[in-house]
Amino acid sequence: MKTVWIVGGSTGIGLELAVQLACSGHRVIVSARNTSSLVQLIEQRDTLTDKLTTLQLNATDQSACIKVWQKINRLYGKVDWVFLNAAVYEPAPVIPFDQSKWKNIVHTNIDVVLNPLAAILEHPDFIPKQLFITASLAGYRGLPKSGGYGMSKAALINLAESIRPELAALDCRVRLISPGFVATRITAKNHFRMPALISVEEAAKQIIKKVNANSFEITFPWRFVIWIKILRLLPYRWFFLITKCMVKQ
Ligand SMILES: NC(=O)c1ccc[n+]([C@@H]2O[C@H](COP(=O)([O-])OP(=O)(O)OC[C@H]3O[C@@H](n4cnc5c(N)ncnc54)[C@H](OP(=O)(O)O)[C@@H]3O)[C@@H](O)[C@H]2O)c1
Repeated sequence: MKTVWIVGGSTGIGLELAVQLACSGHRVIVSARNTSSLVQLIEQRDTLTDKLTTLQLNATDQSACIKVWQKINRLYGKVDWVFLNAAVYEPAPVIPFDQSKWKNIVHTNIDVVLNPLAAILEHPDFIPKQLFITASLAGYRGLPKSGGYGMSKAALINLAESIRPELAALDCRVRLISPGFVATRITAKNHFRMPALISVEEAAKQIIKKVNANSFEITFPWRFVIWIKILRLLPYRWFFLITKCMVKQ
């Protein structure tokens, strides 16, 4: 049995991951700004009562992250796995350019990872065995209409790559989660066709299947990943030919 902290587990992929992990016997602490619907779910399902707990947190608040992390350590001891899964998304075109919207997406999506990370690294004795950072396939390359979101996820991929070797020295394995399209309230905001859209149940299953693997990245679904990986390798000339077509769609 592992002790798990999920930041951003009140809805979507994080919620389903929390439920599946708790159902397989792990102790899961979920943090998000609004945990009321999760509290209701726990009350309705006896199987979750012992295994799933919530600690309300706005992860953009640095001191709140420190307090919650210290509380978790006090109540549950050392945490084995931490999932930094929170994010926000709004469709944000470049024309017309809404700078405050872009800035909010970029700052939030980076803060909700950096703040808990800073809290975790304060005390070496409590650094988890595995640290999962949820980015996105949208962070691989600059895709049209991905607004500040793709930019923020590109930064998180870079962050995970950069800290993995350093944290390995402290016996902490940094992992990257790069999902394709998953049906959540995030994708519900998109008005374009999303190839290979999968359910949250499938997404959580894919994460759990690889949770103990030695690999750096957990990415899914394969039928979409393969195209994005090819797109990542293309020289700019070809890459822009393709993304120009995406703009016209
Ligand atoms: N759905 C997709 O297609 C897709 C694809 C690639 C990557 N992802 C990534 O997967 C992760 C989960 O997304 P999702 O699709 O499941 O969307 P979601 O249902 O909106 O989940 C986002 C979670 O982040 C939490 N959150 C947002 N701001 C927060 C803050 N300031 N402090 C604490 N928690 C905060 C939300 O809870 P509260 O609102 O209650 O705070 C919610 O629990 C995100 O990192 C997203 O970028 C999703």
